[in-house]
Amino acid sequence: MKEAAPRAVHLTDYAPFSHIVEHVHLSFDLRRSATRVTARIGMRPNPDATRGPLRLDGEGLTLLWARIDGAEVAPRLDATGLTVDAPDAPFVWECAVEIDPSSNTALEGLYISNGMFCTQCEAEGFRKITYYPDRPDVMAPFTVRINSDLPVLLSNGNPGASGDGFAEWEDPHPKPAYLFALVAGDLVAHSDRFTTSEGRDVALNIWVRPGDEDKCAYAMDALKRSMAWDERVYGRAYDLDVFNVVAVDDFNMGAMENKGLNIFNARYVLASPETATDDDYARIESIVAHEYFHNWTGNRITCRDWFQLCLKEGLTVYRDQQFSGDERSHAVQRIGDVQMLRGRQFREDAGPLAHPVRPASYIEINNFYTATVYEKGAELIGMLRRLVGDDGYAKALDLYFARHDGQACTIEDWLAVFQDATGRDLTQFKLWYSQAGTPVLDVDWRLEDGTLTLKIDAAIPETPGQTDKALPVIPVSLGAIARDGREVLATTVIEVSETPTRVSFDIGTDDAVPSVLRNFSAPVTLNLDLAKADRAVLLAHDTDPFNKWEAGRMLAKAALTAMVTDGADSDPDFLAALQPVLADETLDPAFRALVLGLPSDDDMAGTLALAGQTPDPDAIAAARRDLGHAMAVDLESTLTALYDGMQVHGPYDPAAADAGKRALRNAALAYLTKLDGGDRARRQFDAADNMTDSLGALVPLIRIGAADDALARFYQSWKDHRLVLDKWFSLQIAAAPGTEGAAIAARLVEHPDFDWKNPNRFRSVIGALGMNHASFHKADGSGYALVADWLIKLDPVNPQTAARMTTLFETRARYDADRQGLMRDALDRISAAPDLSRDTGEMVGRMLD
Ligand code: ARG
Ligand code: ZN
Repeated sequence: MKEAAPRAVHLTDYAPFSHIVEHVHLSFDLRRSATRVTARIGMRPNPDATRGPLRLDGEGLTLLWARIDGAEVAPRLDATGLTVDAPDAPFVWECAVEIDPSSNTALEGLYISNGMFCTQCEAEGFRKITYYPDRPDVMAPFTVRINSDLPVLLSNGNPGASGDGFAEWEDPHPKPAYLFALVAGDLVAHSDRFTTSEGRDVALNIWVRPGDEDKCAYAMDALKRSMAWDERVYGRAYDLDVFNVVAVDDFNMGAMENKGLNIFNARYVLASPETATDDDYARIESIVAHEYFHNWTGNRITCRDWFQLCLKEGLTVYRDQQFSGDERSHAVQRIGDVQMLRGRQFREDAGPLAHPVRPASYIEINNFYTATVYEKGAELIGMLRRLVGDDGYAKALDLYFARHDGQACTIEDWLAVFQDATGRDLTQFKLWYSQAGTPVLDVDWRLEDGTLTLKIDAAIPETPGQTDKALPVIPVSLGAIARDGREVLATTVIEVSETPTRVSFDIGTDDAVPSVLRNFSAPVTLNLDLAKADRAVLLAHDTDPFNKWEAGRMLAKAALTAMVTDGADSDPDFLAALQPVLADETLDPAFRALVLGLPSDDDMAGTLALAGQTPDPDAIAAARRDLGHAMAVDLESTLTALYDGMQVHGPYDPAAADAGKRALRNAALAYLTKLDGGDRARRQFDAADNMTDSLGALVPLIRIGAADDALARFYQSWKDHRLVLDKWFSLQIAAAPGTEGAAIAARLVEHPDFDWKNPNRFRSVIGALGMNHASFHKADGSGYALVADWLIKLDPVNPQTAARMTTLFETRARYDADRQGLMRDALDRISAAPDLSRDTGEMVGRMLD
């Protein structure tokens, strides 16, 4: 059913639910196209709410009957739920509905993926399963009975009775409906056990389709390490007797933290050396940790309403980043996190979709599972910690868990524990939650008579609906490095709480370079004028690994900018500065691999736009290719030494040490392939016994247009393995040279294996085109048109995935008038599609405003 004009929901409209739900019992008779769901729900009037009839959310349900205290009632039904008069006393609501999982292509609510019943309820999918107050502040214990002939029947909590054709589950922990889950199918488990610090013996199971059980070991290992880490670092132990994880082939997002029954996109569970790359392993580790950590930050303490989404997501991302840093390398983790933040969140913040970490209104909440809520939300936690110190952070978190366990909370509650635990006033910090836009710091520096003086001007650019902004307090971490390499100012954190802010430090020399925003201490754009030679000093000597890497990145950006805008040659000083870092055996190979990487085309386009220029996608791609070629020529002997020296011997191990060596070796190969016509890459491709080395060779071959044979063989080897076949689709588009990606994508949508209703496969083709900057922005508009055609086609089938991918157009304002016009045409076409979903309608509407 279609609502006429979708209405916005506002943060300020919050009111508690009219009733308190005391217990929920659900019974499922699972049938593919006619599943019956019977609910028995104990409720009583909420003394803290205004009295009124009972209003329950429900969408796409066929109501069979409804009773209150055993007597049949006739609720008033409409497109979004039902209303019924209820007694002014405790009562039992019962109803039966019928739903059709087999036709649920939106993958929200109860649906079928490859013969397996599964659910996705966050944010508002539970209302597609039964009538319920589908809001996170209504928390209740659930019991569930599943009737089905399928062999494995799972729901939340601990297992209860089971037998032929049924299974019962009991979840004693009160939870909001968005954490409900059910899975039924022909599944096999990879099992293990974990004993918690409280002595609880927990059964761990990873459920997969038969044949995939040999690809679960790493996810299980990551799960056990996550459980131990959360006990050690946050004092949080697991609270049920079982922890189930299920891998699902058709899934809109990465994974979901349903209580005791996490459901994952299969690509973030399944891994073997032959099928998964080191990056896949790292992502599996971080997502397993993320979902597990939600058990405390999200499930036991949840959100009062969806405006508070960052309360659980920002904190949980922060926690999974900390975990991955502890398990691998903090430096490498931080650089990766910042690249992701800049690549996705800064980009979002600079365009029409900019919104605060805690938005003030939304039309479709699924559109707000964004880099801003997640990644900038995590940065806010990191800044808080910098402001109150490690001890203050630990005390605040202890208080958070003690005070709010079992509650549905707000950002105000969160900040109050920091104020109460540390005495720190966070009024000015709180602005970070309500103001969109990436703050810009303009730093002037002077060094005289041994004193380093900084003057910092700070401002936040305008964003849609927000013009005049106040300055939030910004923690800026800094140090200084003498030109002879000594650190003359150790890391110090200053607080920028007014503009301008002036600080000075006695550093005892005038021959030094400031190192500002160490470890990327705040999510801001830093404008700091440093001479090339000074950046080279930091690249060579900075003790802060982030700023060491950043110095190289700034040199690369300056070189590329000069090439694009002035037709300059590649910068010999940059090449000279790189060499000693690459060859420095004391540096982690994974770090050196990051130093060797160039900023992406999209990053360069955003950088040029911020500098007031109109990025030319073809010129950017050409400059990047030319600089890469110059690096290969200039650094050939170093790169060759790395390629030969970084070989990993022995059986494949996904842990950081070996993965770092492979990363550096493959980064070297990518450059050498520009010189040797692909000889090394072809040899490596033929010999590879793991996916990292296989793709490490395949991608450079694609980039030089010499991969036809390798791609054909890759397809033959992997055509029956869907996750690997996704890589085959996406890489030949994303890594295609020049603007060829557009035509290749147009060809691949005709491929018999392009199963466009599977979100992973759709993203592997249409999303991959968006990742190839020059191809997506091809001057004839064919890239934009192809994406628009497919989003129009996907929207009625799967609005969430379609809406998310419209963000490919969010950078429209950066480009020249012709491209802007073509992008607008694409958006107009999507916007004019008949029966456009609320999801896509909201996104396109914001971009066309
Ligand atoms: N809470 C999940 C996670 O971050 C994401 C669920 C997103 N679902 C959605 N429909 N937007 O782990
Ligand atoms: Zn999450």
